[in-house]
Amino acid sequence: MARKGLRMCMIVCSIFLIVVVTIILAISLTILKPKDPDISVHPYGLENFQIIQPNVTAVPLGMVITIVNPNYGTFNYKNTTGYLSYHDINVAKAVVVSGSVPARGLFNITTVAGIMTQKLMDDTQFWSDIEVGTLNFEATITLPGKVTMLKIFKKKALVHVACDLSFKLNLSSIHTDSSCISKIKL
Ligand SMILES: *[C@@H]1O[C@H](CO)[C@@H](O)[C@H](O)[C@H]1NC(C)=O
Ligand SMILES: *[C@@H]1O[C@H](CO)[C@@H](O)[C@H](O)[C@H]1NC(C)=O
Ligand SMILES: *[C@@H]1O[C@H](CO)[C@@H](O)[C@H](O)[C@H]1NC(C)=O
Ligand SMILES: *[C@@H]1O[C@H](CO)[C@@H](O)[C@H](O)[C@H]1NC(C)=O
Repeated sequence: MARKGLRMCMIVCSIFLIVVVTIILAISLTILKPKDPDISVHPYGLENFQIIQPNVTAVPLGMVITIVNPNYGTFNYKNTTGYLSYHDINVAKAVVVSGSVPARGLFNITTVAGIMTQKLMDDTQFWSDIEVGTLNFEATITLPGKVTMLKIFKKKALVHVACDLSFKLNLSSIHTDSSCISKIKL
């Protein structure tokens, strides 16, 4: 009777162990092979943006960076800085305060880019771009942080983002478009 009980226990224990190992393996595989997040950038408050302001070196432009996280882990990122360049010249920087992108969720980072308008206007192509009505920028940001699953599984991660940001101007409005490439690295 006792031996039978022992055998039963061993079988149950083995099954339990197999289940636990499988779950841990599945979790580590999802955590180690994360998908790249979907990112878009939307400038806001453009209707009040004035490129020429006396004695102002950096004109603030609001930006919302929308991150869609396709993974089962939460991504917590630290304070970082984003950059905006125009014809390969850095023309703005934006401080991004730490935050948390939920698992399989969406998070909006709100930040302000200080556009160094003098640098922009010093560019030889600026006025011809204005005439054509299209200004193209490249936005880059690296988010250092951590992917966390079930509060136990943690892994350092880096998300690199590069976006083509295009402003189309006409007499009545400014239309913006962004297309971003992101890469998550563990
Ligand atoms: C801009 O700066 C100059 C000299 O630094 C000063 O004389 C002028 O009053 C300032 N203008 C404004 C609008 O602050
Ligand atoms: C991140 O930035 C915020 C706002 O500037 C600041 O209060 C906080 O201390 C910073 N955190 C770290 C870890 O530097
Ligand atoms: C995030 O920003 C986008 C675009 O501005 C907006 O459509 C969406 O409702 C926002 N979502 C949240 C959760 O703030
Ligand atoms: C300006 O662009 C917007 C959006 O691209 C468009 O709807 C509008 O008709 C354009 N206006 C003029 C005057 O071209």
